[in-house]
Amino acid sequence: MRCRKCGGKPAVNMPQHKLALCKDHFLEWIPEQTERFITKYEMFSRQERVLVAVSGGKDSLSLWDILHRLGYQADGLYIGLGIDEGIGYSDESRRLTEAFAAANGLKLHVVEVEKETGQTIPQLARATTRGRGKPCSVCGLVKRHEMNRIARDLGYDVLATGHNLDDEAAVLFGNTLTWSGEYLLRQGPVLPGTPGLARKVKPLCRIYEREMTAYALLRGIEYIYEECPFAAGSTSIYYKELLNKMESDRPGAKLSFYLSFLEARKSGLFAQREQVQAELHPCTNCGQPTSAPGLCSFCRMKEKLAPTVEGRA
Ligand code: AMP
Ligand code: FES
Ligand code: ZN
Ligand code: ZN
Repeated sequence: MRCRKCGGKPAVNMPQHKLALCKDHFLEWIPEQTERFITKYEMFSRQERVLVAVSGGKDSLSLWDILHRLGYQADGLYIGLGIDEGIGYSDESRRLTEAFAAANGLKLHVVEVEKETGQTIPQLARATTRGRGKPCSVCGLVKRHEMNRIARDLGYDVLATGHNLDDEAAVLFGNTLTWSGEYLLRQGPVLPGTPGLARKVKPLCRIYEREMTAYALLRGIEYIYEECPFAAGSTSIYYKELLNKMESDRPGAKLSFYLSFLEARKSGLFAQREQVQAELHPCTNCGQPTSAPGLCSFCRMKEKLAPTVEGRA
């Protein structure tokens, strides 16, 4: 196959789209696709201020690069988790994120979890019962809370993350295996904002992980190759492998799984559940919405760690 646009030598072959493109056309195609999804799902406009959560990985750095190239007002947020595990994981991802921001003249906010809570993610995980020894559940909770807090405090209209199609299909697969209605109802390209919570969007949710790797490499973006050291053996990696097996037999299967879910929901698959969706209350300490009255899970965790949480002596 030759590049569909110019007939030149193809750099990326995408059987899932029956499409091959040369380097230049591929590097144009990815931002065009992203723009198409931003518009289709009404994620944000050029007048709005976007906060991109950047981990130093290929997806979020590429997302930041794409939004910048498309002319959106996009600042970055890096959350330092304090994960070392002998490979200096957090230090290296922070260094790469800062280098990208500096090279492109972009504004980056940096939050260190240790400064905010007094402990790193692995320490927090040891001090709480969440996640049975694995830090991933505490980490997810803290990241969500900090992203929401910064977006709200600094007045951003929308928070964008680098989740790609493989991430979304794996989460969807997990939620389908357990028929987790509440999660299935909320999963999608856009999670509307509520008072105290910025709108959340995933502009890369329809782009294959393989395409994002190709984009980062062909654009010469320096990103952290290592996965989080705690991710090894996780169910999401297992689901990604299963979906990849399916994809290799039937190119396009992953995309079709995700898109048919969005379509089914739009036609009312969860309509009944939508009506009985739990009402949210503001957390009495930090003000972020939570499903139960009182403290949110983040503030409950903090309270367990130290008897005097800031502002609630
Ligand atoms: P993950 O859950 O690690 O697959 O990350 C999903 C998305 O969350 C990434 O694409 C980023 O947008 C965001 N993210 C993950 N880790 C961080 C971090 N340490 N700082 C800022 N954003 C992050
Ligand atoms: Fe949070 Fe791995 S435990 S990124
Ligand atoms: Zn071409
Ligand atoms: Zn709270």
